[in-house]
Amino acid sequence: MSQKEIHKHWKNCQRHWDTTWLPSKEIIKNKKCLDVGIWKGILNAKAMKEFNCNTTHGVEPDQEHRLDCKRFNPHTEVYESINDLPSDLHVDIIFLHAVICLMGNFWKSELEELFKKVKANILHIRHKDHNDDEIVTGVGRDNNNYNITNYEESPSSKKLIDFLQERKYKLLSQHNAILILEYEKYTDR
Ligand SMILES: C[S@@+](CC[C@H](N)C(=O)[O-])C[C@H]1O[C@@H](n2cnc3c(N)ncnc32)[C@H](O)[C@@H]1O
Repeated sequence: MSQKEIHKHWKNCQRHWDTTWLPSKEIIKNKKCLDVGIWKGILNAKAMKEFNCNTTHGVEPDQEHRLDCKRFNPHTEVYESINDLPSDLHVDIIFLHAVICLMGNFWKSELEELFKKVKANILHIRHKDHNDDEIVTGVGRDNNNYNITNYEESPSSKKLIDFLQERKYKLLSQHNAILILEYEKYTDR
């Protein structure tokens, strides 16, 4: 990948470094993480360098993104779907950044499958309330497995938090679309 292309991709996601990663530095540093919807993993590579945050596993349905992700993060195992993740995976943090909204009607079953396979103490989520008529292009960062064209099925933040709290993830903070939740009885699992 040329320097020009890397620069273009960095420009595409730089704002998320400032709003999603940097404010959570203390939570993220020195942790082992799974990133669902990892895209090209550019921010994960930066977090590894700057915070020693190790994204050991990622999920990304788009093949080109997966290949790029591997280039930026040779140590990260990247899978096509949650279903393909190894069972009984333990990480400190699961990142779900701007991805639940791309799961359409399947967001609950995707998350149920995720929690069945992966145990994590912290969920670090970026999720906003979308308008139903907002367009999902289905390409690039909007790529999704279900050919969704709008956000009609994307849960409101409240609905999502209620769903997670029912699964023992307690809301620690909610600020600027960043939700941080902690598993209540991690040691019991
Ligand atoms: C809007 S981008 C967000 C990328 C990155 N997490 C960030 O915050 O910059 C959504 C990413 O999730 C991927 N994606 C879409 N549907 C997915 C699914 N069901 N499971 C995992 N990843 C998915 C897309 O291919 C895309 O790379």
